Amino acid sequence: MVAPALNESMLKRAQERHLLDIRIHQLRDYAADKHRTTDDVPYGGGPGMVMKPDPIFAAVEKIRQERGAVRIIIPSPQGNLFNQTMAGTFSKEERSLIFICGHYEGMDARVKEGMPAEEVSIGDYILTGGELAAMVMIDASARLIPGVLGEPASLEEESFSSSLLEYPHYTRPVEFRGLRVPEILLSGNHQAIRTWRKQQALLNTLRKRPDLLANASLTEDEKEWVDQQQCDAIKSHS
Ligand code: ADE
Repeated sequence: MVAPALNESMLKRAQERHLLDIRIHQLRDYAADKHRTTDDVPYGGGPGMVMKPDPIFAAVEKIRQERGAVRIIIPSPQGNLFNQTMAGTFSKEERSLIFICGHYEGMDARVKEGMPAEEVSIGDYILTGGELAAMVMIDASARLIPGVLGEPASLEEESFSSSLLEYPHYTRPVEFRGLRVPEILLSGNHQAIRTWRKQQALLNTLRKRPDLLANASLTEDEKEWVDQQQCDAIKSHS
C-alpha cells in the first residue's frame, strides 16, 4: 500500500534528487520466530489480534542504529491533531522520522510506554490502520522541504496567505461557457491583483472556515476589511 503511493510524482522526484529518503520496513522482518509472527491473541480475551511489542522494538532499535537520532510517531486517532504547523516542523526535523503503523486498538500498550513516541491523529475518524495516516503526514511534510516543489514561488505564495484558504485560480480561455475570468486578472496591475487575491482568500476563509481567521496574521487594513465584510453580510441578511 505504501510504496506505490510514495514512489509517485513529486515524492518520487524528491527521492531521486536526494531531498527525501523514505524507507519502508516490514515488521515481519523483525519477528524472531520462524513463522515471523507480528500479532497474537489479547490477554484477557476479546475479539481481534494485538500487534506484538517485540518486532516493533526490534525494528526501531535497528533503525536507530543505522540512522542515529529518531523521532517516533504513532499514527492514532488518540493523538494530537496533525496540521500545517506540524507538517512544517516535520519538514525541518533533523532526526529521522519513524512512523509506526499499527492497527488501531491493536498495538500492545507497552510500545507507547516503553519508547518516547508521539501519537498523532489526522482527523476524528477511524482508519483501518496507520499507513494512510502516515502517508498523509509524509506527503504534507515533504512538500515543505525546500526544492521538493518545482516552483519555490508557490510556497512563498502559501506563506503569504498562511492560515487562509486559497484565492480562486483561472487559466485560458478568458471566457468559458459564458463565465469570464475576473477583469482584474487581465489588467496587468500586479499590485491590484495581489490585493484582490488576498481579499478573495480572506473572503473564502470568512465564508467557509471562519475559525481559521483567528490564527491568521493579518495587517490592520486586512482586519478592517474583514470586519467590513462581516458588517456588510449582516446588513444584507437583515
Ligand atoms: N489510525 C486509525 N485512524 C487514524 C487517524 N484518524 N489518524 C491517525 N492514525 C489513525
